[in-house]
Formats: sequence, C-alpha cells, structure tokens
Amino acid sequence: MTKKTAFWIFLIGTISSAAVFLWATYDTHRQVATLSHVDKLSDQVVAGKRAFEKYNCNDCHTILGFGGYYAPDLTKVVQRVGEEGIRYRVKSPEMAFANSPRKMPNQHVTDQEITDLVAFFRWVGEINNNDWPPQDSKKRLSRGEQMMVAKVGVSPGAAVFQTKGCMNCHSLKGTGGTFGPALDKIGAGMSAEEIGKYVRNPKGVNPGSKMPSQKDNLSERELDEVARFLATLK
Ligand code: HEC
Ligand code: HEC
Repeated sequence: MTKKTAFWIFLIGTISSAAVFLWATYDTHRQVATLSHVDKLSDQVVAGKRAFEKYNCNDCHTILGFGGYYAPDLTKVVQRVGEEGIRYRVKSPEMAFANSPRKMPNQHVTDQEITDLVAFFRWVGEINNNDWPPQDSKKRLSRGEQMMVAKVGVSPGAAVFQTKGCMNCHSLKGTGGTFGPALDKIGAGMSAEEIGKYVRNPKGVNPGSKMPSQKDNLSERELDEVARFLATLK
C-alpha cells in the first residue's frame, strides 16, 4: 500500500464514520420525546426520581446504564417483580433478601416515597430502549432464566412468593394483600410438607378454605420452593 492509498483510506474512513455517528446522534435526539413518552412525565414520576436520588439507590442499582452493578438493574423492575413486589422489597429488604448473600439496607423509605418510586420505575420501564437490559428481554430469555439472572442470590422460594401472585392475597411484614392471612409466622405452625400440601389443594386440607389451588399456577419445583421458604418464617 502506498502512502497515498493509506491517506485516502484514513480520510474516507474517518469522514464516513463521523457522518454515521452524527446522523445516529441526531436521529436519537429526534426520537427521544417519543421513545421516552415525555407526556407521561408526571409530578409523581419526578417525585420518585427525587426519592431515588435522596436514598442513593444508584450506589448499588443501575437504571438505563447509570449506577452501580452490585445489585440488580432496575430499568425493568416493574415488569419483573410488579408493584407489590417493589413495595415489599423496599419496605422490608431484610425479609425479602433474608437468604441472600447480598444485602440491601432498610432505609425506612416512607409509603408515599415508595408509591412515587413505583411511578418512576414504571415510567423508566416503559421507555423504548431497544430491549435493554438483556436479562429482562422477553425475546432473548425465558421467564425462568430472567429470574435467575435478575435475582442471583435470592432464595428461589422467596422469589416465587413475590412473583407468583401469593402477595395479591397474603402479606409479609405488613406488605401485600389482606384477603388471606398474613404469613409472617406460618412456619411456626406448619412444616414445609404441610404447606406444600395445602397450597396444592387447600380444600383437600380444609374444605371451607377460600384459597384457590395453586397447582396449575406454579410448577412442582416452585411449589416445593415456596413451601420451603414459608416454613422458615417463624
Ligand atoms: C447498599 C446497596 C443498596 C442500596 C443503597 C439499595 N439497594 Fe436495592 N438491592 C440491593 C441488593 C444487593 C439487592 C438484591 C438482593 C438479592 O437479590 O440478593 C437489591 C434489590 C432491590 C430490588 C429488587 C430487584 C429485583 O429484581 O428483585 C428493588 C426493587 C430494590 N432493590 C430497590 C431499591 C431502591 C428503591 C433503593 C433506594 C431507596 C435501593 N434498592 C437501595 C442493594 C441496595
Ligand atoms: C386468591 C387469594 C389467594 C392466593 C392467590 C393465595 N392464597 Fe393462600 N390463602 C388464601 C386464603 C383466603 C387463605 C385462608 C384459607 C381459608 O379460607 O381458611 C389462605 C391460606 C394459605 C395458607 C395457610 C395459612 C394458615 O394459616 O392456615 C398458606 C400456607 C398459603 N395460603 C400459602 C399461599 C401461597 C404460597 C400462595 C402462592 C403460591 C398463596 N397462598 C396464594 C388466599 C390466597
């Protein structure tokens, strides 16, 4: 290659990549308002963002690529664990992550702030960001795999309890539904085996039970995991 050829390769290469870069930047800016649906940026979303900063959640968590990598990415956390799931984890992290080697501190976030945080996470989660982060991508991973990646370290049973609808009716530490009894001390009276049996067929154990069977809702393994988790609560 002569010096002249090298010069032209350099020049054309630099100009064309600069042009692509500038065009892509312009194109992104043009779409930001639509992709992030700015119209839904309510006062509550802003309040949630303030709470996120006040408690330095970013020190451990990442949103849209900013933040620490010690704890799970929260960009799609509403889609992953649901509103009740977030409420429970932020309110009682010592309970939610009891069996995890990683710890999240209880910062005594107020109920109002948690509600604002949920609005903020919902807004962030709905931003069209080309399916980022990959662990929450429905296209790339199965639901089970997403959970494994997102929650490395959380007891699988606790994860099942938080994501499979139990909290619609049951509470732990005051968070969750009230249709069924609070289960904070369930392990004191029931073994894992008894809980497993009950959850599979509530009416078989107690004919008057108002709890629907969870047999079709959960896999056999999930039923065992959640029973084992509940049996540790005493
Ligand atoms: C000192 C680090 C730290 C701080 C600060 C922190 N967290 Fe966490 N958080 C964690 C860890 C670690 C986990 C995951 C525990 C595990 O799964 O083993 C977690 C998990 C979560 C989860 C569940 C994520 C999932 O996918 O299951 C939510 C929601 C959450 N944190 C919200 C918050 C919010 C909101 C704040 C700020 C008010 C916050 N965290 C502050 C460390 C932290
Ligand atoms: C639609 C609401 C609903 C859902 C969903 C639900 N439960 Fe229940 N559950 C109840 C009700 C109501 C009771 C009380 C039974 C009765 O009527 O006597 C109960 C009772 C229980 C009990 C026995 C408590 C006791 O003190 O005897 C356990 C254990 C339990 N549920 C676990 C679970 C688990 C685990 C899940 C999720 C996989 C779950 N439940 C989902 C409504 C629900």
